[in-house]
Amino acid sequence: MIVLDNHLLINQGKTRACYLHPGDKDLVIKVPVGSKKADNRSNITELRGYQALMREQVDLFCISHCYGFVTTSLGKGLVCDCIRDDGGAVSRTIWDIIIYQDDCDVDHIKAVADAFCRFLIQRDTRLFDLNLKNIVLKLHKDGVYAPFAVDLKGRFDNKETIPVSSYSRYFARKKMDRRRRQLLERIFLFREKRVEWQ
Ligand SMILES: Nc1ncnc2c1ncn2[C@@H]1O[C@H](COP(=O)(O)OP(=O)(O)O)[C@@H](O)[C@H]1O
Ligand SMILES: [Mg+2]
Repeated sequence: MIVLDNHLLINQGKTRACYLHPGDKDLVIKVPVGSKKADNRSNITELRGYQALMREQVDLFCISHCYGFVTTSLGKGLVCDCIRDDGGAVSRTIWDIIIYQDDCDVDHIKAVADAFCRFLIQRDTRLFDLNLKNIVLKLHKDGVYAPFAVDLKGRFDNKETIPVSSYSRYFARKKMDRRRRQLLERIFLFREKRVEWQ
């Protein structure tokens, strides 16, 4: 069993906490938190989304890949790639950068996010959860950011009564384009109001 404790914690989302793998610096382990703690549904949905992506896409370099389940001291965890900057630090989400980093090039971040979404749409890569906390930016030595999707559960967690965008290419593209526009708007909006969120 893998023992996870607070010094390994990277961050927490609505349904899962993300820990560094104690035995491998290139991996993370996600464990359920909150009211859904017992059922591990987010991790199962993410693994399912990941497997669907792998069936459709070749060469998907811009996501955190998933490797299956392990038993931890905090319950069953999903093992995924840990995205790190060239300098070795764990890469941060767009949210963490625009809210907490004093000097940040918002135009560059917006351009990177826009290009990332367009690339995914063009390749029909169905990742609908493109929000500020689900994309991390890997900082390269030259100051350029490379985006990675770290939360892949959106495809099968899409809150549609009839999940058309999971199966129809047309609706999937439309939906992802809405998400793209929303993401870009939010980058500016939250940057402007960052003090309220710190
Ligand atoms: N592969 C990863 N590399 C680095 N940080 C990650 C990774 N996966 C998740 N995180 C961090 O953990 C947070 C929560 O993970 P996420 O998978 O989005 O959980 P949730 O299902 O609760 O939204 C993310 O917002 C991000 O800060
Ligand atoms: Mg998330």
